[in-house]
Amino acid sequence: MEWRVPLSDIDFGLEEEQAVLGVLRSRWLTMGGITQQFEQEFANYVRAKHAIAVTNATAALHLACVAAGLGPGDEVILPSLTFVATSNAVRYTGALPVFADIESAACLNISPQAIEASITPRTRLILVMHYGGYACDMPAILAIARQHGLAVIEDAAHAVGSQLEGRMLGTWGATGCFSFFSNKNMTTGEGGMLVTDDDELAGKLRILRSHGMTSLTWDRHKGHAWSYDVVDLGYNYRIDEIRSALGRVQLNKLARNNQLRRDRTTLYHELLQELCPSVGIPFQEHPGVSACHLLPILLPEGDRREAFMEQMKSRGIQTSIHYPPIHHFSAYRELTASSTSDLKLTENVAARQVTLPLYPALSANDVTLVVEAVRDSL
Ligand SMILES: Cc1ncc(COP(=O)(O)O)c(C=O)c1O
Repeated sequence: MEWRVPLSDIDFGLEEEQAVLGVLRSRWLTMGGITQQFEQEFANYVRAKHAIAVTNATAALHLACVAAGLGPGDEVILPSLTFVATSNAVRYTGALPVFADIESAACLNISPQAIEASITPRTRLILVMHYGGYACDMPAILAIARQHGLAVIEDAAHAVGSQLEGRMLGTWGATGCFSFFSNKNMTTGEGGMLVTDDDELAGKLRILRSHGMTSLTWDRHKGHAWSYDVVDLGYNYRIDEIRSALGRVQLNKLARNNQLRRDRTTLYHELLQELCPSVGIPFQEHPGVSACHLLPILLPEGDRREAFMEQMKSRGIQTSIHYPPIHHFSAYRELTASSTSDLKLTENVAARQVTLPLYPALSANDVTLVVEAVRDSL
């Protein structure tokens, strides 16, 4: 379908084409020098000591969970209102996901109080997700983690370029995991990045990323090594040079594109005021600087979402839902220690949430058009 206003759009041009062509002409496609440059530039951007590029954020989350030593018998506290990959990564290790409720209809992030209430003697880790690029309450969550001796991992798939108290999201926990999937604020098609300040953890993650091997094809090509040992049960989660080249160009554009997203979000919030309070607008007042990955709204209570989305579609406007909560999925119903009664706010919000179009090239006129369509479709 040709949308008049799609949900998201990428910013690709001549620079991306040239970057890819440059790699193809260099004849070195696997992880090598360009990936090292991309990692260094990303580490500088988020002000982390180490950045480790991987195939996607799901792989990043999996490696972060493996490196944290998770296994059967362990519990991990995380939100249910996130993409299923956040939780799948926990399950790959044999650990049990325990879903904690969100803060409120105004803040769709995991609640520190709900985290605290979910802690048991088996809890090992807290896995937060910064919904739409809006910061979780990291000072409160880190304080809980310290008090109970728990590790913290950040799913920062939405939050590339977001900040809280001047510190980039993804650098608050032991590891931060970023996604460069096609609908994200910067994209390489498929791709992801892990960041950490911990030297030992970084070494472990690098080895796990490539089969547990102590040297890479690139090191051997450069003459730095001629053999290798395998010191852990690793994976092939390497990125390639084509994606890294795209990532370098996209990273250069990120600050400008995130600012455009913020400007459009401000305009949406202004124009949507006339529909309040029947339409809820999460994250209107939120601490920090958001990457504004998503523009969520909450419809009035009642079973009208499908009809609303159909109306929007009939006007050529694409909408989406973020997210069907994970504990509702067939593959999860019997696999979590949390009960629906613990997740009242998640249940309420998930039933009436709709995501409106947001991307850097969205014009002010488009925003007006979408808000008019929202008003008429209610
Ligand atoms: C919150 C969240 N976590 C994890 C992922 C997984 O990212 P990837 O597609 O790069 O594996 C996504 C991607 O859609 C996401 O939105």
